[in-house]
Amino acid sequence: MGAQKIQKICIVGAGNMGHQIACSAALAGFEVKCTDVNEEVLQKAEQFVTTYLPERVAKGKLQQAQADAARKNLTFTRDLAEAAGDADLVIEAVIEKLEIKRTLFAELDRICPPHTILTTNSSYIVSSKIADVTKRPEKVCNLHFFNPALVMKLVEVVKGPHTSEETAQALMDICVSMGKTPVLLKQEIYGFLVNRMLTAIKNESIYLLDMGIAGHEEIDTAVTLALGHPMGPFRLMDLTGIDLTYIVGLERYQETGDPIYRPSPTIAEKFVKKEWGRKTGKGFYEYPQK
Ligand code: 3HC
Repeated sequence: MGAQKIQKICIVGAGNMGHQIACSAALAGFEVKCTDVNEEVLQKAEQFVTTYLPERVAKGKLQQAQADAARKNLTFTRDLAEAAGDADLVIEAVIEKLEIKRTLFAELDRICPPHTILTTNSSYIVSSKIADVTKRPEKVCNLHFFNPALVMKLVEVVKGPHTSEETAQALMDICVSMGKTPVLLKQEIYGFLVNRMLTAIKNESIYLLDMGIAGHEEIDTAVTLALGHPMGPFRLMDLTGIDLTYIVGLERYQETGDPIYRPSPTIAEKFVKKEWGRKTGKGFYEYPQK
């Protein structure tokens, strides 16, 4: 299926990434259905959109007609079959657990029409670990957005050995239609481009913190002012979720045995205390809940 024929997009997983990808696609004129197994997460997602769009209008960043059209384009449902049954493109943004993704893709393969492209927004899991549960591996690919997805322009399109050229091209084109800038990775690699670089910076920052060389605020200040990053690694972990840093690091450590991936005691402690960053109100910094 070519990008010009993609009109209906289903987002599975209405969390942090999912609902912002859904809103981006709706703003770009696609008909979007967003689904999640968790009613509370789905309600929060809908609530976000209901406040975000008028706020953008009030800020002068969006016209009322655009906000109305985007809201009309976007529906929320707990029913996966209803959300994905007529989709041209599915973007999965559920928890980073391989078995959950494999089960979901097998189900999507049953539910979706044969032409539907199935993608994962996973931060690390390559689609070749998932594609074999479907009968359409040539239509399975990684499509990796960045947090906050409504703001960040980059999308990584990671072509697996099973992904057809046509699918990769359709995804590159669809990103452009969504106002994003895609980069194509011709081969799969763990962490893709950006998360590989971020992991290196994060690991070094945590090492310096744990060694008592400098505090997290000092390290963030250094990275912001000397390297020109919009936010330092600790503020960024608070944004993307310390739970994710912990879960992904632990899984990779278990998989490879490489100690570079083992979550540091600081990250493990924050995970156990549920100090996961913005989403829980506290991480390395505090975020008073509105
Ligand atoms: N959701 C939606 N919009 C947001 C937002 C959010 N959470 N946070 C900020 N924005 C919007 C604001 O509304 C504002 O929009 P406007 O200029 O059009 O009015 C714009 O972003 C700037 O916001 P602020 O002025 O409040 O704050 P900043 O200028 O500090 O920008 C930031 C905030 C965009 C988050 C910026 O700090 C940034 O780019 N940080 C780096 C983010 C980053 O590195 N992301 C990649 C993370 S890695 C990843 O996602 C990989 C994954 O696999 C984990």
